[in-house]
Amino acid sequence: MMARDRYLAFANSPFGKKLTGAIGLPQPTPLERFAPGRPDLLGPVIVGAAQGGRLAAPLAELLAAAPVATLFHGEYAGWTDIAAQHRLMTGRFDAKSSGTVGSAVFDATGIADPDDLAAIYRFFHDTIRSIARNGRILVLGTPPEDAPNLAGRIAQRALEGIVRSLGKEAQHNIAAQLLYVAPGAEGAANSSLRFFLSPRSAYVSGQVVRIGKPVAQDTDGYDSHAPHAGRTVLVTGAARGIGAAIAEVFARDGAKVICLDVPQSTADLLALAQRIGGERLTLDITAPEAPKTIVEDAMARGGYDVVVHNAGITRDKTIANMTPDAWNIVMNVNLVSALRITEALLDADALKPNGRVVCVSSIAGNAGNLGQTNYAASKAGVIGMVQGFAPVLAARGATINAVAPGFIETQMTNAIPLTIREAGRRMNAMAQGGQPVDVAETISWFADPASVGLNGNVVRVCGQSLIGA
Ligand SMILES: NC(=O)c1ccc[n+]([C@@H]2O[C@H](COP(=O)([O-])OP(=O)(O)OC[C@H]3O[C@@H](n4cnc5c(N)ncnc54)[C@H](O)[C@@H]3O)[C@@H](O)[C@H]2O)c1
Repeated sequence: MMARDRYLAFANSPFGKKLTGAIGLPQPTPLERFAPGRPDLLGPVIVGAAQGGRLAAPLAELLAAAPVATLFHGEYAGWTDIAAQHRLMTGRFDAKSSGTVGSAVFDATGIADPDDLAAIYRFFHDTIRSIARNGRILVLGTPPEDAPNLAGRIAQRALEGIVRSLGKEAQHNIAAQLLYVAPGAEGAANSSLRFFLSPRSAYVSGQVVRIGKPVAQDTDGYDSHAPHAGRTVLVTGAARGIGAAIAEVFARDGAKVICLDVPQSTADLLALAQRIGGERLTLDITAPEAPKTIVEDAMARGGYDVVVHNAGITRDKTIANMTPDAWNIVMNVNLVSALRITEALLDADALKPNGRVVCVSSIAGNAGNLGQTNYAASKAGVIGMVQGFAPVLAARGATINAVAPGFIETQMTNAIPLTIREAGRRMNAMAQGGQPVDVAETISWFADPASVGLNGNVVRVCGQSLIGA
């Protein structure tokens, strides 16, 4: 049984609203998530930019294709020409008469000096109160290491502080991110702009994402409404929880999903595979023959397009009380198996061109946690794996990235003692736990065939948790 957030339901009942308000308790509201048939992007979108920005064209292209109405901040004089070129509806933003908007995007790539940062202050000073509940804030920057001089490096690095503070300040489930787009990678930003301006990124906030040199060209016939059409995706640990949601999201978006889990979960695995028109692979990933079996399955299908290393376990104890078995099994399931399977697939050339590997880390891997030396080591190791493999995969025209979930409502978190569980759930900017689908949507974005500029990233799906931030 999935854990239920009873407090969230209570705080949204008429009596609960009154009581929580009166005594100053957190007042979370349910996140608005993507559902087929709903608009892709949260509009209207207010745009702003510092002079010399590089991302007006890719942004206008995306907004025109959606299509979504735009407003521009008074200082962004160049926007009307760009909007006209893309046949995009636009009007000047006025805090008094424009009403609320779904998203606010600021192109800060032109900021070359700490003094220029005042432009971003003015943009959000004027617009933040106009962003609707469940809205989005997106800041686009240049990776500090790519800035031409010291002043630019400093100013671009400062954006992280602004965005993380906006995420904490905006409230009402508004999510804020910073996308660093390297010079020359502007054409690879589309899938990320789309994800972060959509309801799919509901529980992702306060994140810094780097978009670099594309590893491959966009595939022909790509359809952003069914991005995984015709692709074969392996998901480990698919029988329940986050893994089942990952399988469902990939199937929804067009993929053939190979659902892998241990023999004990055969019944769940069968039901899932049937429900989503996928296939099952019953296997313990720590078994010595597992990499070989997986490679054989991949080769029989002409290779995998996407591999999601999701299977994971906890065996919590303080290090003095931890048995060697508890240490070994956590390391084996969470890290060593993923490493062996990835190596075997690469050795056999079983990852297709423009392929994707996505790993599941954890905020415990960033922050560490009492009683989780084994788990945190394995999940920090997953981050190392992503960073270490990134250049290897880029050389093959493929990518590897990781998500690091915070508190997600599953059987894993349901097993946490009540008071610790309740603290974990509330200690984030959205004052609630995420759902498995929030992690799944983020993995699907990393795995999108158009995400050719995302490699070596670790993105937290944690509602901007205070833990390890
Ligand atoms: N739930 C959270 O809040 C949270 C937070 C951070 C990270 N994560 C990570 O997300 C992933 C999924 O977690 P979940 O909450 O859905 O857990 P879960 O326990 O509900 O599901 C994990 C699945 O992995 C499978 N599995 C375990 N060992 C396996 C093995 N040796 N071979 C094949 N399959 C195996 C299990 O049978 C199960 O179906 C894990 O890697 C976990 O560490 C979860």
